[in-house]
Amino acid sequence: MGRWVKAADTADFASLPADSLSLAVEAEGYDIVLFKLPGGWGALDDTCSHEYSKLSEGEVWDGRVYCEKHGSSFDCRSGEVRGLPATEDVQSFAVEQRGEEIWLELPDYA
Ligand code: FES
Repeated sequence: MGRWVKAADTADFASLPADSLSLAVEAEGYDIVLFKLPGGWGALDDTCSHEYSKLSEGEVWDGRVYCEKHGSSFDCRSGEVRGLPATEDVQSFAVEQRGEEIWLELPDYA
């Protein structure tokens, strides 16, 4: 079990451009990208596993985020690689909406 922390408000997404489905947030030292997806949310480490570009600057399409640097794609919920050149998954986080707030589950302290 990890620890749940508030990461954002749903209103934070309302202030984004209409076609933008991702939001970069910082939660207790973790750089995370939140995704607004059909039927829910996704949360991944905001660092591409290929050459460390920000996934929050990529395009979101059909449940995948496409890194803007070289085009690797990852599942927005699981972080699994869906397209090269990346070969390693990115870390995913459990995420849920509580009222008007978005909460993340972070790993426990070591
Ligand atoms: S840095 Fe993301 S695909 Fe290369």
